[in-house]
Amino acid sequence: MIINTFSKTLLKWNKSQNSRSMPWKGEKDPYRIWLSEIILQQTRVEQGWEYYTRFITTFPSVKELALASDKEVFKLWEGLGYYSRCRNLIATARHIYQERNSVFPQTYEEILKLKGVGPYTAAAIASFSYNLPYAVVDGNVQRVLARIFGIEDPIDSTSGKKRFHALAQELLDKKNPAIYNQAIMDFGATVCKPLQPLCSQCPFASDCVAFKENKIAQFPVKSKK
Ligand code: ADE
Repeated sequence: MIINTFSKTLLKWNKSQNSRSMPWKGEKDPYRIWLSEIILQQTRVEQGWEYYTRFITTFPSVKELALASDKEVFKLWEGLGYYSRCRNLIATARHIYQERNSVFPQTYEEILKLKGVGPYTAAAIASFSYNLPYAVVDGNVQRVLARIFGIEDPIDSTSGKKRFHALAQELLDKKNPAIYNQAIMDFGATVCKPLQPLCSQCPFASDCVAFKENKIAQFPVKSKK
C-alpha cells in the first residue's frame, strides 16, 4: 500500500532529483527558520528570498533584531505587506531576547505560543530546527496528498483540514522530519505543481489517483464560498 512506501519514495526522489535551492534550506538555527517562515507566511518564495537574506545580514541573531528600532525593522520589511507580521516579528524578538535570554523555545507547544506563530509555522520551526516529528501542512502538501490519495474533502473545510493533517502526520518520516518536510514542499512546488504538473517525472504516478483517473486539474478540491 502506498501509505507504507510514500516517505521512502519521497526521500529517494529528494536525494536523486530535488535540486531546489533556497537560502533557508538545511538551516537549523531556530531564529533563522522562524524568520524565514514568518516571511513566507503570505509571501512567495521568489519574493521572500531577498528579504530573508537582507534580514539575516542586518540582524544575524535575535539580539540585533531585538535591539533595532521599530522604524529600522519596518524599513526592511517595506514591500512585503501584511504589516502585522512585522509587528509580531519585533515583539517576539524582544520577548526572546529580554525574557528568555535569547534562547528560542524548543518544544512545539512553546513555539506555538509565540506571537504570529500558528500550527503550520510551529511545525516548520519544530521540525527544521529540532527535527521534532511534526508534519507541515501547507498548500503544497495539501495538493500533493489530495492528488495522490484522491482526497475529495475541500482543503478549506473543517473535515478536510483534519483529514489532511491526520494523513500528513501518518506519512511523516518520524526519523527524518526536517528532510521529509522540506522534501514534500519542494516536491509540490517543482513536480506536483498547481498547473502543468510534471507527471511524467513523478515517482508516484503509478499510484496517483488523480493521474490514473485523469483528474489532475480537479484536485485539490476547494469549497466554493
Ligand atoms: N514555504 C514555507 N516554508 C517553506 C520552506 N521551508 N520552503 C519552501 N517554501 C516554504
